[in-house]
Order: sequence, then structure tokens, then C-alpha cells
Amino acid sequence: MKSGEIVDLGLKGRVAVVTGGSQGIGKGIIKILQREGVNVVDFDIRNPDYEVDYFKVNVAKKEEVIKGIEYVVSKYGRIDAVVNNAGIERYGTIDETSEEDWDNIMNVNVKGAFLMAKYSIPHMRKQGKGVIINIASIQSFAVQKRVAAYATSKHALLGLTRSIAIDYAPQIRCIAICPGSIRTPLLEWAAEEEVGKEYIEDKIKEWGQIYPMGRVGIPEDIGYLTAFLLSDLSSFINGTCITIDGGLLSLIPISSPSKKI
Ligand SMILES: NC(=O)c1ccc[n+]([C@@H]2O[C@H](COP(=O)([O-])OP(=O)(O)OC[C@H]3O[C@@H](n4cnc5c(N)ncnc54)[C@H](O)[C@@H]3O)[C@@H](O)[C@H]2O)c1
Repeated sequence: MKSGEIVDLGLKGRVAVVTGGSQGIGKGIIKILQREGVNVVDFDIRNPDYEVDYFKVNVAKKEEVIKGIEYVVSKYGRIDAVVNNAGIERYGTIDETSEEDWDNIMNVNVKGAFLMAKYSIPHMRKQGKGVIINIASIQSFAVQKRVAAYATSKHALLGLTRSIAIDYAPQIRCIAICPGSIRTPLLEWAAEEEVGKEYIEDKIKEWGQIYPMGRVGIPEDIGYLTAFLLSDLSSFINGTCITIDGGLLSLIPISSPSKKI
């Protein structure tokens, strides 16, 4: 398949909600799903800067999640897929992390995914079918220094993924996608925090060089995988996590002799 080529995955007419879809990875996922003919609703606290059915939802707030799901079901009559993508990140070791930051990260990254699943699952069960995707991270397996609360939240998403998968199979599938660095406003913010605005490009290039593929990812990389996982072509994939990291987690950063011995 050539990059950018459209493949018919049989998703036309399906109804999906993507949280945090106004920018970054969520926007990339929505663009690909829209091209596949999916009716997508973006649940975000920030307005999107492109054409998409948008409903303002803070995923950490139960009443807003309930209202959002009601909007989708009353407008489209069903809800085939939920992509729990909304997430926030803060830097700090445990002793540097305020209780407020800890609660905010857990409320958005973990409770938000729980609430979205809780209130969409009854509709999926009624339909007899549905897929829930949780956007976790390579930080669900290994962690960067000084990102304790975020890394904990991403580990927790794997437990949520497995629990949903086991409790609701065979009707509902649940899969975690674990991306490495993806170029988004969040990644640019992280680069800016580390080296300042002027050196964002240099920093992102430097991160890219650590990846065996020689680059960081782009939101569409996650979009293509999501489209496949929402399709019936992946109907035997359930309760697992798929890393999409250009090979980074396969790498042990210890040098070896350059000649054969
Ligand atoms: N960019 C990366 O390198 C990377 C790597 C691994 C995992 N991830 C994960 O991918 C997801 C998306 O990351 P991104 O880089 O696109 O981030 P981003 O900050 O660029 O975009 C996140 C979107 O989520 C929305 N959002 C934040 N809080 C929300 C809330 N309470 N309710 C609804 N929407 C909310 C924001 O408004 C924004 O539109 C996150 O879960 C992140 O942890 C990102």
C-alpha cells in the first residue's frame, strides 16, 4: 500500500466518537476515519479548526459525557466506536507532583476513558457490537524520567483495556494503542519546555534520531492503525496493546563492538 492510499475497510456509515479530537493525534485519527466514510463526533474542551461534528465535552465530567453520548445516539441512532484519546501530561517526579496535578491527570486520562466506556457500552451491547480504543503510550511499558503521574495513568489504561475486553467479549472489543513520540502540539510543548521555543525543531529532530525509523511519528500513523482496529478485518484482535513506535521499545541503548567478533 502506498502511503495515503485509501483502502475500503468497510467503515462507511459507522458512528464513532473520538475524544480530544480538536488537534494532534485525535485530529489525525478523525481525518482518516472521515476519509473512510465514518460519521465522527469530536468530544473536546477546545474548538476544532477543521470541519467535524463537534460536541463540547470535558471527559472528566460525568454529566458532560452523558450529554455527549446522548447527542450522538439521538443524532445518529447508534455508537459503533469510542476512541479515548483525550489526555494531558505534566512533568515531575512523585515528590514534585502536586496532588492537584495528580488528580487532574488521573481524572482526564483514566477516569475520562472509564466514563466514556461506562456510558457508551450499554448502547454497544444493545447493538450487539462495538469497539473501544484507548490511546495509551509507550510509557505504559517503560518510562521517561520525571513523568511519574502521566506514566502511571498510561499504565492504568492497559488494565482498563483488558478489563473491558474480558468483560464484554465477544460483543465489544477493546484495544490499547501505545504510540511513541508523535508530532503534535503536546510534543511541541514538551520540546519547548525542555529547550525553549527557538529550538523546538532541533529537539524534535534529535528525538527522531533516537527512533530506529529515524523520525518521530505523525498523527496519521495512529489514524491508519485506528481505522484498521475499528474495522471487522481486526475482529480477532481484542484485549491487547499495539505499540506504534518506529521500533523504539525494541532498542537497548547500549553500544556493541562495530566489527564482527
Ligand atoms: N504526542 C505524543 O507524542 C504522544 C505519545 C503517546 C501518547 N500520546 C497520547 O495521545 C493522546 C493525544 O495526545 P496529543 O499529543 O494529540 O495531545 P494534544 O495536547 O496535542 O491534544 C489533546 C487534545 O485533547 C483535548 N483535551 C484535553 N483535556 C481534555 C478533556 N478533559 N476533555 C476533552 N478533551 C480534552 C485537548 O483540548 C486537545 O485537543 C493523549 O492521550 C496522549 O497522552 C501522545
